[in-house]
Amino acid sequence: MTTYQVGYFVGSLSSTSINRVLSHALIRLAPPDLAFAEIPIGNLPLYSPDHDADFPPEATALKEAIGRSDALLFVTPEYNRSIPGALKNAIDWASRPWGRNSFHHVPAAVIGASIGQIGTAVAQQSLRGVLSFCNARQMTAPEAYIQYSPDKFAPDGEVTDESTAAFLRDFMAEFREHLARVLTVIPRENL
Ligand code: FNR
Repeated sequence: MTTYQVGYFVGSLSSTSINRVLSHALIRLAPPDLAFAEIPIGNLPLYSPDHDADFPPEATALKEAIGRSDALLFVTPEYNRSIPGALKNAIDWASRPWGRNSFHHVPAAVIGASIGQIGTAVAQQSLRGVLSFCNARQMTAPEAYIQYSPDKFAPDGEVTDESTAAFLRDFMAEFREHLARVLTVIPRENL
């Protein structure tokens, strides 16, 4: 059985992040042939083109982690109806230097949790626009806007609400199909 390596980003730096809980839930509910590794973003300096000729080690590690991944999963909060700055900063680093955009043709999916009713919908649209420009091969459906509640998620990522678990299990099954389909046509190359 082929195992696909999925690198995942949590767009929150909060020590009590509900999106990190969601990421653990997604890992629990994922098909068995997906293996997961978080790609950290909290240690990156702010991006500047001044670094393009000589990336700092944290940014090189970021690009290497993406290069080791067959596909990418973005699990993010919404900040002020947009992408959290830390996540956007990481994307800017990985997209550079020019000609070495790490997202080029990489299968990707977007999901997020909020305490609000629209469940990061606006941030996800914003993120989809960025990933589109970066030429990632995004899963367009299903979309997943998760309104977080402790009634549905235990702190360790167990999903205690069966309909939520079924939805997230289906999301990950669809992601697995999507990434396998993309990789069949476009084998991974490391930029
Ligand atoms: C928020 N929050 C929020 N929620 C939302 O649904 N839409 C939004 O635009 C915002 N904006 C926003 C800005 C900032 C700076 C903060 C700190 C928070 C609330 C947000 O959903 C909540 O704090 C979540 O717990 C954030 O996810 P993590 O960090 O727990 O994963």
